[in-house]
Amino acid sequence: MERLFEEKEMITEREIEAALEFSMKQILRNLPEFTDKFQKAYSEGNFYQPIENNDWTTGFWTGEIWLAYEYALGLEQKGRKEEGEAAAGKLREAGEIQVESFLDRINRKFEVDHHDMGFLYSPSCVAAYKLTGNEKGKEAAIKAADQLISRYHPVGEFIQAWGPMNAPENYRLIIDCLLNLPLLYWASEETGDKKYREIAEKHIHTAIRNVIREDYSTWHTFFFNMETGEPDHGATCQGYRDGSAWARGQAWGIYGCALAYKYTERKEYITIFKNVTRYFLEHLPKDMIPFWDLEFTDGDDQPRDSSAASIAACGMLEMVKYLNEEGIVYEKYARQIMKSLYDNYAVKDFETSNGLVLHSTYSNHSPYNTCNHCGVDECNAWGDYFYMEALTRLDRNWKLYW
Ligand code: GLY
Repeated sequence: MERLFEEKEMITEREIEAALEFSMKQILRNLPEFTDKFQKAYSEGNFYQPIENNDWTTGFWTGEIWLAYEYALGLEQKGRKEEGEAAAGKLREAGEIQVESFLDRINRKFEVDHHDMGFLYSPSCVAAYKLTGNEKGKEAAIKAADQLISRYHPVGEFIQAWGPMNAPENYRLIIDCLLNLPLLYWASEETGDKKYREIAEKHIHTAIRNVIREDYSTWHTFFFNMETGEPDHGATCQGYRDGSAWARGQAWGIYGCALAYKYTERKEYITIFKNVTRYFLEHLPKDMIPFWDLEFTDGDDQPRDSSAASIAACGMLEMVKYLNEEGIVYEKYARQIMKSLYDNYAVKDFETSNGLVLHSTYSNHSPYNTCNHCGVDECNAWGDYFYMEALTRLDRNWKLYW
């Protein structure tokens, strides 16, 4: 790959620490309002409102709490033992209250008729179980894995993303789902039942075979023939138009391929990762933070999606682990992206926002796509979460929640 962004600065250790420190403080400040409630998917005027545990996005806020908990525990090594213990205690208590809410949600099957069980249950309940042995988290996450595999179509070999099962207008998968599948690998590991892993593997192969185009740009969604299971056609929902590359979809592809390799160890996923990442990098503007669709670049009057930058950085940092020297370049890109986010997109003043990262885009309606219009040029829950995850990955040898 031609070397890109040679001259851009990388985030320093001191900046990583400052960013994590601010994030922990922001999360602690938010706890009184957001322990019994959750942050809405996106901010309005850069402030999140509280909601019930009823959207696909609530796990990210709980995930931020667990990341902050890990950071607080690490303060002991920085000579701040008492402060760290006090913060970790508050964060753990809040995280545990939220885990109860997730268990209640899956027990009641409330707003779980979709594929986002991984986004909901990995950073909240799997994290709680891995970090503290929380049994309710384990129970909730295994039930969520059962819910996720209930959406699997053996004909076609994919997990249906949205809507009632077998509805023709929803007989499709979406690229984002690659992040929901680690929940299934974890469930197989915990239960000893290989059915979860087998379904994950089938879905990964179907998804990667179909959503990645010849030039390594990506479809957001892909439809299948209901009778035969044959691949039918790609379509966007949240991208600008059918043939373009939705920035966050491409980022889900980067992180999704890294996770696909981690769990399947199929070497071809490394090659696909490299090419999907190259496409992303080659379509970034000068400051490395994508516009909401990779069709747009410097000079276009379009909103950014800073969340896509953090997701891509996490994917690159995951793949670095499997690449030896070849991986150095991906760590460099990730550090450069994080520098740009930290310098120009991260919240630095509590009075201006109760989130962590500005200038993200949830759903930008265009004349050619099918999504609602909301959360444009705002903070959003996953943008904040993956920003913290990327920083945490750079700060320590982090054990994945995914
Ligand atoms: N997974 C939905 C989104 O990225 O907006």
